[in-house]
Amino acid sequence: MSQIDYFTEECSVEAVNTRMGETINPRLREVMASLITHLHGFVKEVELTQEEWEFAIDFLTRTGQTCDDKRQEFILLSDTLGVSMLVDAIQHRRPEGATENTVFGPFHVDGAPELEMGANISLDGKGEQCLYEGRVLDLDGNPIEGVRIDVWSDNSEGFYDVQQPDEQPVWNNRGVFITGPDGRYWFTGIKPVSYPIPDDGPVGQMLRHLGRHPWRPAHMHFLLDHPDYERIVTHTFVAGDTYLTSDTVFGVKESLILDYAANPDVKTGWQAHFDFVMNPHEQ
Ligand code: BEZ
Ligand code: FE
Repeated sequence: MSQIDYFTEECSVEAVNTRMGETINPRLREVMASLITHLHGFVKEVELTQEEWEFAIDFLTRTGQTCDDKRQEFILLSDTLGVSMLVDAIQHRRPEGATENTVFGPFHVDGAPELEMGANISLDGKGEQCLYEGRVLDLDGNPIEGVRIDVWSDNSEGFYDVQQPDEQPVWNNRGVFITGPDGRYWFTGIKPVSYPIPDDGPVGQMLRHLGRHPWRPAHMHFLLDHPDYERIVTHTFVAGDTYLTSDTVFGVKESLILDYAANPDVKTGWQAHFDFVMNPHEQ
């Protein structure tokens, strides 16, 4: 279509989209043309007022201003609007039986120590001990050797170590384990607790205006890497948690909910069994 010279309400989408150059990246053209179509459609459908648009610009400005090297308010916005989970769902359609992904979240830290299988990652000694164990398998049930399993969870008060650098030991409730030929993993951590996502910024304000709570159900994070298989970014959730069906970031999948059983070997201890199934990279 040739360029539309003058903008009107009726031809707003075409006016913007026909300004794109002829030699630009085709994927950029596709994404931006669709974005403009939906954005203009939304403004027209709700007949957005000047005040509402100014509020939205101020909200996005404050969201950006809340970000620093430790706080990523835009990721929280994406998570709470369900966009993070939707992008992940579209990009990681896996065969039946493969472990499902969930949201990555902002609290992963690169460089956690690689530990011997069986190590205890809870360094503050607080919380209820839990033995995490299981295997990493391929789609045919064979064990996978050499899988790098990076794990992290909150402490018994619902905070990650990076949220409380003056109170928690460095690398509290974090570690990396590598599977051997039997594909097994096991380590001790705590039974995690549910916690609210950081809600003292614009995203928290948005949730309150929408009548939504900021809570996530208790979970342990797992990141599994192996050169021959698709990366798994997931959690295991504690069955019975109050927030399983109202996770503020929509991260819960039924296949990831597990019963934490009493561990007969440890007083007041728990055990959580979960086998991960990895999907090979496309040939
Ligand atoms: C988390 O599970 O660590 C998380 C995920 C999304 C937003 C905030 C926290
Ligand atoms: Fe988390």
